[in-house]
Order: sequence, then C-alpha cells, then structure tokens
Amino acid sequence: MAASLPKDEPRERPILCLSGFMGVGKTTLGRALALHLGLPFFDLDECVEVATGLPVAELFATEGEAAFRQREAVQLRELLSTGRRCVVALGGGTLLDGVLQAEALRASFVMLLAASPEAILERVRGTNRPLLGASPELTLPELLRRRASVYRQAHATLATDGLSVEAAVSALRSAWPGGI
Ligand code: S3P
Repeated sequence: MAASLPKDEPRERPILCLSGFMGVGKTTLGRALALHLGLPFFDLDECVEVATGLPVAELFATEGEAAFRQREAVQLRELLSTGRRCVVALGGGTLLDGVLQAEALRASFVMLLAASPEAILERVRGTNRPLLGASPELTLPELLRRRASVYRQAHATLATDGLSVEAAVSALRSAWPGGI
C-alpha cells in the first residue's frame, strides 16, 4: 500500500495572509510580525499603488471599485504564485471575490484579524477609506454585517481588541509555524 501523503496543513504554509475589515490592524501587525521573523512584508493596497502610481482613494474615484478589485486580485495572485515565505496584509475587501478567496485558502494560511466596531471606528477616524464615506459610524455596521460570512471562511481568527502589538505578534507567531 502506498505511504499516505503528508497532510497539507494550512498553518505550515510559507505565506500568511492577514484578512479582516479596515482598521483591524492588518498592516501594523503584518509589518511588525514580518520584521520580527525577518520575512518580506507586502501590503496589498501598497502593491496596487506601486503598480498603478495612484493612491487607492484616487483609483476608487477614477476607475471605480470593480477595477480596483481586479487590480488587487492581480497583485495577490502574483504573491501567491511565488510560494515564497512572506506576510501579506490583504485589503478589507480582497476576499469578497469567492474564487480569489478559494485560491488564497488553498495557497496560504489565511488569518482573520477581528476587532469590535468601536475599535475599528477609532482606528479609521481621519483616514481615507472610500467605502466608509463621510460617516463611518453609519456605514460600518452594515458593511461588517454583509461581510461576516466571507471573513468567517478564514483558517483561524485572532481578536485584536486590547492586544498590544507585541502580544499580537506573539500570538500570530504561535498560530503560524510556517513562518519560522
Ligand atoms: C477596502 C479596504 C481598504 C482598501 C480599499 C477597500 C475594503 O484596505 O483596500 O479602501 O473594501 O474593505 P484596508 O483594509 O487596508 O483599509
């Protein structure tokens, strides 16, 4: 009888994708974790901005959301295809595309960062998030509710409310043995 193949354990994969709503800490924690582990870090919004030479808010205004989603999908597929060890901070809406979400779940360890609406509101205050508009306190709860089922597909979840950056990095290190 043939020996059984090793199980493909998502936690052991070389790429960590940090998913979750705007303002949950994907970029801050992803960068800190990558620094801690000596790994490359990619922020998907930044990748799109570098590729297009335009800020995300301007891309939304000039090309619209659908075009932006296509651009971030191109960037994510490129990163996933390398298979090289790295940390990726996704955009809050990157995995709304079910096909792309399935690809990310197959090729990386997808960790959802979760935070309360209050903590998110605090963090997005004064930033330019086109989808939240001028009154995030009104748009955020509905957007969060609509996306909950998408975010829930992640391999694992870390709640970031009340966690220091150091504590979150330590939790992410333990959750992702593939990064060591
Ligand atoms: C978006 C989140 C943003 C950015 C764009 C759309 C979203 O990224 O990609 O404004 O749909 O949730 P962050 O989650 O890094 O803020």
